[in-house]
Amino acid sequence: MNHTTEALRQAFLRYFERQGHQAVASSPLIPQADPTLLFTNAGMNQFKRVFLGEESRAYKRAVTVQKCVRAGGKHNDLENVGYTARHHTFFEMLGNFSFGDYFKAEAIEFGWEFLTKEVGLAKDRLWVTVYKDDDDAASLWKRIGMPDQRIMRFGEKDNFWQMGDTGPCGPCSEIHFDQGTAVPGDDRPNGDGDRVIEIWNLVFMQFNQNDRGERQPLPRPSIDTGMGLERLAAVVQGKHSNYDGDVFAPILHAIGTRTGQRYGANLSSDRSMRVIADHLRAIAFLVADGILPSNEGRGYVLRRILRRAARHGRLLGVSEPFLYDLTGSVALSMGSFYPELRAAADTITEVTQGEEERFIATLDQGLPILNDMVAKAKAAGQPVLAGPEVFKLYDTYGFPMDLIAEACREQGLAVDQEGFDRAIDEQRARARKSASFESEAVSPMLAELSARVPATQFVGYERLQSESVLQAILKGDRLVKEATAGDEIECVLDVTPFYAEGGGQVGDQGVLVGPEGRIEITETVKPLPTMFVHKGRVQSGLVREGDRLQAQVRANTRQDAARNHTATHLVHAALRDLLGPHVKQYGSLVAPNRLRFDFAHFKALSGRDIDEVEAIVNDQIRRNEQVRTQVMGIQDAVAAGALAFFGDKYGEQVRVVTIEEFSKELCGGTHCRHTGEIGLFRILSETGVAAGVRRIEAQTGVGALSALKRLEADVRELSEILKVAPSDLVGRTRKLAAQLKEKERELEELKLKLASGASTDAQVRTIGSVQVHVQRTDGMDMNGMRALADRVRDKLKSGVVALGGVSDDKVSLLVAVTKDLTASIKAGELIKSMAVEVGGTGGGRPELAQAGGKQPEGLPRALEKVFPLVEQALGQ
Ligand code: ALA
Repeated sequence: MNHTTEALRQAFLRYFERQGHQAVASSPLIPQADPTLLFTNAGMNQFKRVFLGEESRAYKRAVTVQKCVRAGGKHNDLENVGYTARHHTFFEMLGNFSFGDYFKAEAIEFGWEFLTKEVGLAKDRLWVTVYKDDDDAASLWKRIGMPDQRIMRFGEKDNFWQMGDTGPCGPCSEIHFDQGTAVPGDDRPNGDGDRVIEIWNLVFMQFNQNDRGERQPLPRPSIDTGMGLERLAAVVQGKHSNYDGDVFAPILHAIGTRTGQRYGANLSSDRSMRVIADHLRAIAFLVADGILPSNEGRGYVLRRILRRAARHGRLLGVSEPFLYDLTGSVALSMGSFYPELRAAADTITEVTQGEEERFIATLDQGLPILNDMVAKAKAAGQPVLAGPEVFKLYDTYGFPMDLIAEACREQGLAVDQEGFDRAIDEQRARARKSASFESEAVSPMLAELSARVPATQFVGYERLQSESVLQAILKGDRLVKEATAGDEIECVLDVTPFYAEGGGQVGDQGVLVGPEGRIEITETVKPLPTMFVHKGRVQSGLVREGDRLQAQVRANTRQDAARNHTATHLVHAALRDLLGPHVKQYGSLVAPNRLRFDFAHFKALSGRDIDEVEAIVNDQIRRNEQVRTQVMGIQDAVAAGALAFFGDKYGEQVRVVTIEEFSKELCGGTHCRHTGEIGLFRILSETGVAAGVRRIEAQTGVGALSALKRLEADVRELSEILKVAPSDLVGRTRKLAAQLKEKERELEELKLKLASGASTDAQVRTIGSVQVHVQRTDGMDMNGMRALADRVRDKLKSGVVALGGVSDDKVSLLVAVTKDLTASIKAGELIKSMAVEVGGTGGGRPELAQAGGKQPEGLPRALEKVFPLVEQALGQ
């Protein structure tokens, strides 16, 4: 067979299709249904729930070519990339799966047949390993023709596979390939060196490991296999390094062209080129799947990868942004199998360039300091760079830790990791202390109170009123038994319909009516998860602890807030539809009169984008879709496609708000029942709030309508002032603006005429045959003076014009000489001598020169000088 990577992908898929497997597309790099996982790191991830028996599919056998990233999380290869022939951050995994269908025997037969028959690897080059007591697997391998002495047994570390700290797992059997004596190393699996390398891992999935480390048997034993495509390609192409395979060739070539290096020429530049080649693939695929560089979670890993690649660019002598220019080479090499690379090409380029620019700014600041530290440590004969120093670079200058370590490694220095970790821990402890200090300041009494009163029961999703018992009254910072008209108080109820501020939505307002008095509530908050606090004022009468009250939420403001909250979900979904899945909510504010939505995106929205978002949201409003809320387990919510983000904290039970076919989010807020209740949606502004974070402010319902009303009133007033119909306003205004501009021009001209015409200040003399025009031009700026000089010079035909004026205590001088005279009279020289008189300097061309000065009192002398200077120049 043809041994290109593309041919191998197809051969794998077709072979297993012939064995009754369903070919399933690669899942994205962001695990869709699994908040425990940072990146998709194996083919089996998308089938996790199928292995666990929580989900069933129409097929029992599947085959995939899966995009994987192993950087950050349990399987992390980042530090090895570049230093070995086989490690990658991004790679492709070929895998076949059985969900309770076939088990060890078939898995081993398929693996053997594919490698030896389909691909044609020599049988005597293959070795296998099995789990220490897995006699079944060993005898199955023997039966198929593998000699006894090439079947080896290993323990947990090598032959037991787990996806992460929890999840499906089981013993495994690996197939290894002997590259022969040309590659140094042991002649058997798991030894030293690279000679015998693992190419395929067959996992016999039998257990589910829980978070206490216990393993329960799976409902049905299953098969999960994974073979690194890059390794397989290198092996069948007879290469000893993955980087010599066909997929990397165009990428390494592009890097070579851009950096002026040749791959294979030199060990250290080769290493940098490999790092860049590997990282470019990771960058392109991560951005295509919607990840943006940031300081947390996945975005942070992307940032580290990008910065590591940029730094290796520096080692190759490229210090300006360049990676962005090379991302296209990844699409060139892999875009036909992964169309998402082509679809997102512009985004990939822009995001990469932006991050390279930010990184350069960081490096410019931190590198000299790092170099200095390294030089000092070496001069002092220290073998390590001290932890607190490293921490300072990391903390103050934002210098990535791995880059510091790598720079040290190149200089033969170690990093004092322990000291660094201590410094980080100390800083965390300081941060915790200051945070808890604040909360302690507000809550000792509330904490005590919460132990005494029952947890507040919230009924506000279903209704706006309740019968409640007044559990406690707070006045200032004291608990009181009663309060009277005029008192500012906070109260705690057993049951409440009032929504407490949270999830960006402001708390409810309303009234509490008791047997003897009435409280107006202006704010509701939740200082503890179990306790709602209602803040307000006693309007009339008297209220006592233990009173039975009618609690009534103000319906208007609640409904306005609900409109804005539902609209916020629509905006979020519209942005993701329009701009891509990297759009992630950073924060939001939902108030009755407006909404604010902050989200991750790398550049400003165009006017067209903004119009489009507005149109999509209004379209959803007109459809009047039902807004449904359900409470369910977090795993089920995520599996149903609800937006949840790695690193965010969610409880076991979550509330999911769904707008049919359009939006599904985890949310505890209050919403409209149908989108039509929003009425109208208008975006007021789109601005940037931080690098990579944008903000949309918008209005809905009555707020949006009254803003439109105000605009309408303004338009009416304008048309009255301008005396035209509203439809002619724009034309009329344009005309007026043009007229105004014309008038301003005329005015300038008049001023000029006045200055040159009323030449009371001008002295004109003829010296020899040369006319010399000298004039004071106080209050005129340089532009005016230049225009005046042009005019006078045109009039003179042959002559010298010298102007000087004072404006804001500063002197300006200008000299112009007609071309025919510049051989003997040079404006630049005249101006120099004049400038001396006003304490300034100046210069220019022979035809035109100007100067400035700070001594207005010298101006008359400067101007008088002109005549004798000209005489001198003419030799008279
Ligand atoms: N899931 C197994 C691995 O990643 C096949 O090695």
